[in-house]
Amino acid sequence: MDSIVVTGNGPLQGEIPIAGAKNACLALMPATLLTDAPLTLTNAPRLSDIRTMSTLLESLGAEVASLQDGQVLALSSHALDSQRADYDIVRKMRASILVLGPLLARYGQAEVSLPGGCAIGARPVDLHLRALEAMGAELDLRDGYVHARAPGGLKGAVFEFPLVSVGATENALMAATLARGTTVLKNAAREPEIVDLAHCLRRMGARIEGEGTSTLTIEGVDALGGATHPVVADRIELGTFMLAPAIAGGSVECLGGRLDLVQSFAEKLMATGVEVTQTERGLRVTRRGDRVRATDVVTAPFPGFPTDLQAQFMALMCTADGTAVLEERIFENRFMHAPELTRMGARIEVHGGTATVHGVERLRGAPVMATDLRASVSLILAGLAAEGETVLSRVYHLDRGYERVEEKLRGCGARVERVKG
Ligand code: UD1
Repeated sequence: MDSIVVTGNGPLQGEIPIAGAKNACLALMPATLLTDAPLTLTNAPRLSDIRTMSTLLESLGAEVASLQDGQVLALSSHALDSQRADYDIVRKMRASILVLGPLLARYGQAEVSLPGGCAIGARPVDLHLRALEAMGAELDLRDGYVHARAPGGLKGAVFEFPLVSVGATENALMAATLARGTTVLKNAAREPEIVDLAHCLRRMGARIEGEGTSTLTIEGVDALGGATHPVVADRIELGTFMLAPAIAGGSVECLGGRLDLVQSFAEKLMATGVEVTQTERGLRVTRRGDRVRATDVVTAPFPGFPTDLQAQFMALMCTADGTAVLEERIFENRFMHAPELTRMGARIEVHGGTATVHGVERLRGAPVMATDLRASVSLILAGLAAEGETVLSRVYHLDRGYERVEEKLRGCGARVERVKG
């Protein structure tokens, strides 16, 4: 298995291109199931999660062509021969559940294995199912599968999510585009990935209002057509690379970065003393002083501080001046990076959903292990600020969500190498 070796060597200078958003692309790809016509996604990220979604769609009979070195995905579902998403694929990635709504909406039936995915808490799919039930789906959970039917087709409904869920909002939104009548989704997620999905569906002919707010209104149509759609920039990759100069010092321009995608995160970063400025090409992040100020963070649904940047922000807080309290409110078990950071000399106490980080002057390189996608990149970031060598194993987590991370960091002068194993 590959590992990544990081040797802390001071300030970074340069630019890093930000790819299309993994999480947006994973929701956009299943939208192909809603139509006979071709769907083309440009600015797609080249990641193993995207390949897993391609394999899943192909297993249903869809065609997925990866063009221009993977940056363009040409999808077609004109000849689907199965509505069953098998455990073997679904267990690799939780986002697989996003085929359920589209399959049900177009074919009136679907069988989807209950998902696995990152080990960050229980992560049920009850909200996905309840929203579809509200639209008239009949569901049966047997043998680890959701067996779903909508004999007369889905019907528009008013559904209020009891808590904000990105995936459940996406599933319900896609299903509602082909339901009979009007669907109103209340307490819907407002993440940029939902907005991007709504824009793509509208290009395909869907009638949607309210994206980016907590109420989505969808007028069902008889059929959707094809579209070409560019995937929005990855705000989590953006936030991750914005933290690189914050941790190592120096100045880095994240190309394609937009402040509106990371507003609350950028505000916290600026509160630590780091400069963030929107340029014509993206976001420039500069750390001039020596240590940053400790700053507290509470994760929340968008537009709050993203849970997917909590681990990386913790890496910054490890060497901050003072004590920071990080509260995780989205997932109940998302501090697995804390013991690994402690191995590098960090001082962190975890009690339930709260981590208290007492900043130290210097971290020391150590062998560490990635436990999930965002945890693994937080250890690479910490390695940039550590003395000596940090060796990160279980790199497959990283490859699910970061494209060429070592190359991108090397481009700014960091010493980061992948060792094939
Ligand atoms: C998506 C993102 C993930 C991010 C998360 C929160 C993708 C592919 N993944 O995951 O990177 O960390 O949003 O921003 O887009 N919940 C339920 N029942 C459900 C669904 C969710 O109780 O049916 C709970 C979850 O356990 C969690 C919370 O709701 O505590 C939010 O989860 P959700 O927004 O659904 O996350 P995902 O869509 O899985």
